[in-house]
Amino acid sequence: MRTVLGVAGGIAAYKACHVIRRLRELGHSVKVVPTASALNFVGAATFEALSSQTVTTDVFDDVESVNHVRIGQDAELVIIAPATANVLAKLAAGIADDLLTATVLTTTAEVVVAPAMHTEMWHNPATVANIATLKQRGIHVLEPAVGRLTGPDSGPGRLPEPEAIVDFALAAAAVAGTSPTESSAGTSPTASSAGTDTAGPASNALGPLSGKHVVISAGGTREPLDPVRFLGNRSSGKQGIALARAAAAAGAHVALVAANIDSGLLSTLPDSVRITTVESTLELQTQMHAAQADSDAIIMAAAVADYRPADPTDSKMKKSGDEGMTLNLTQNPDVLVGLVEARRQAQIIIGFAAETGDSHHTALDYAKAKFRRKGVDLLVFNDVSDDRAFGHDDTAVRILSADSDEVAASAEFHGSKDDVSEKVILALAKRVECVESTP
Ligand code: CTP
Repeated sequence: MRTVLGVAGGIAAYKACHVIRRLRELGHSVKVVPTASALNFVGAATFEALSSQTVTTDVFDDVESVNHVRIGQDAELVIIAPATANVLAKLAAGIADDLLTATVLTTTAEVVVAPAMHTEMWHNPATVANIATLKQRGIHVLEPAVGRLTGPDSGPGRLPEPEAIVDFALAAAAVAGTSPTESSAGTSPTASSAGTDTAGPASNALGPLSGKHVVISAGGTREPLDPVRFLGNRSSGKQGIALARAAAAAGAHVALVAANIDSGLLSTLPDSVRITTVESTLELQTQMHAAQADSDAIIMAAAVADYRPADPTDSKMKKSGDEGMTLNLTQNPDVLVGLVEARRQAQIIIGFAAETGDSHHTALDYAKAKFRRKGVDLLVFNDVSDDRAFGHDDTAVRILSADSDEVAASAEFHGSKDDVSEKVILALAKRVECVESTP
């Protein structure tokens, strides 16, 4: 595939060299288009040597080849890594004052940006709005990793590792149909069948969950009625996928137990995430307990069916006359409570709760009661009174924890499922740190 790698001026520009190498190893050509300030960090000669192509930054270089439109028109995939706050702002505004921004304006290929900057810049409302605009226009945004930044500070803003950038970009191109899936074979994440694993490269070694093993359940269970019908729920799995991405970006080894999640969505995960697929609650329970022994933390984001048909049939059920039908249901085990009961020392367990309020109690009251009932370390609660959680990209949550034996809820925060996941993973990292520092 003909790729263009844009490099903006940030300390992480050196990682672009590894992105070039990785893309070329996988058989893709790479045209590097740095900004002028990127060349303060890595020289044009390095980019030229690694890509075997000339490198220009200015629209007035090599004018006879009309570079400022040709590069974008020729590209089959455009990746910008690192993408600074400045470049993101220019892209959002449609500014084209150098070769990189002109290339993005002229291309019809998939565009992937990997932002990297200080946490304050990443959280600045201007950057948040620019990212939202770019996402709306179909630009793929690889959320920054959480970890050590240029100075002594740390937080979200690190450029993810080159392998993760390449995996993400190739998966975006494959899902969009720009490249045959084979072109990313070996790097594009694929779902494995129940009970089997796919191992991938190690993730962010400097992140706050570096080296930790995190198991995440995601999606919604389906309880068979007969070979073609099931009782299910509306969970898309987006929240669990976002959590898996955030945990991997924070350096964790992530195992995802995926209940009925669309394969396109699974394919957006970094290759390092091990995926096990399940359908029913009993399968989910088996896989979660199997993964529990080796894990430092468990996040139960899956929507689990509380009941299953008592007598599923082996052949398709038939209507009988004009009668209605009564289904006998058996209660499913509470997987989360079972995991809490079987937890090993220092293992952190996080539950999720989507609640609605009623005339007696608020949704938050119900969430606090659930926190106590389940015995978890943290409960991520969202109010679904107005049906806003399922399948949508934005969500609003609070994180409940036991603070001196009182259930304390964090302030509600809103954002994309990626934003929320980042907060949950940071809360988990704090817990892990706290447990480790307790004698
Ligand atoms: N959960 C679980 N097993 C179940 C039901 C729920 O592990 N049989 C987990 C979910 O993954 C989630 C948390 O428990 O992390 C809360 O799920 P929820 O459906 O809100 O809780 P329920 O126990 O089903 O409570 P309710 O009676 O309010 O539905």
